[in-house]
Amino acid sequence: MKTAIVYYSLTGNCKYAARMTARRLSADLIEIAPVNAYPEKGFMKFFRGGKSAVMGEKPALKQYYFEPEMYDRVIFCFPVWAGNVTPPIRTFIEENLDALKGKKLAAILCHSGGGGSKTIEKLKELLKVRELEAELELVDPRDKPDASKDKAIEDFCIELKK
Ligand SMILES: Cc1cc2nc3c(=O)[nH]c(=O)nc-3n(C[C@H](O)[C@H](O)[C@H](O)COP(=O)(O)O)c2cc1C
Repeated sequence: MKTAIVYYSLTGNCKYAARMTARRLSADLIEIAPVNAYPEKGFMKFFRGGKSAVMGEKPALKQYYFEPEMYDRVIFCFPVWAGNVTPPIRTFIEENLDALKGKKLAAILCHSGGGGSKTIEKLKELLKVRELEAELELVDPRDKPDASKDKAIEDFCIELKK
């Protein structure tokens, strides 16, 4: 089973989670990023990103390489923004929806404690699926590292290997 991890990370937490997961699953990492980067600091970080997420924007992405036929499974890894799916992931899904059909789909969400269950529902709506193969929520795994988060990533990978 060949897996791609498609991730977007503004400040490194999702990048950390995606890398840890990729190492355990021998998965390929596909990083996506908007052409116009979101601010990483200060008030504008939350204002611009939050507004974009609430408005359901789909920003243009920098070129990325995703060859769907190579993969049986795609894991989306992204931060929760204002309870929503991060805009670059929306763009990716829109651009690849047909190619994702029939693949196993899973998700890793990073947030800072607000929870991710509503966001998972929104992700499923965008993907037009009823269920995901597996879901994992992590609270700022790079900024607030702790062994239980590494264990949760390990358990998520074990679940996927079953
Ligand atoms: C614009 C914006 C909106 C956010 N909204 C939420 C939220 O609704 N709930 C929450 O728990 N965390 C929220 N966060 C925190 C991030 O989801 C969290 O810190 C995540 O781990 C960041 O991942 P990254 O470092 O890969 O960008 C938000 C962060 C930003 C920048």
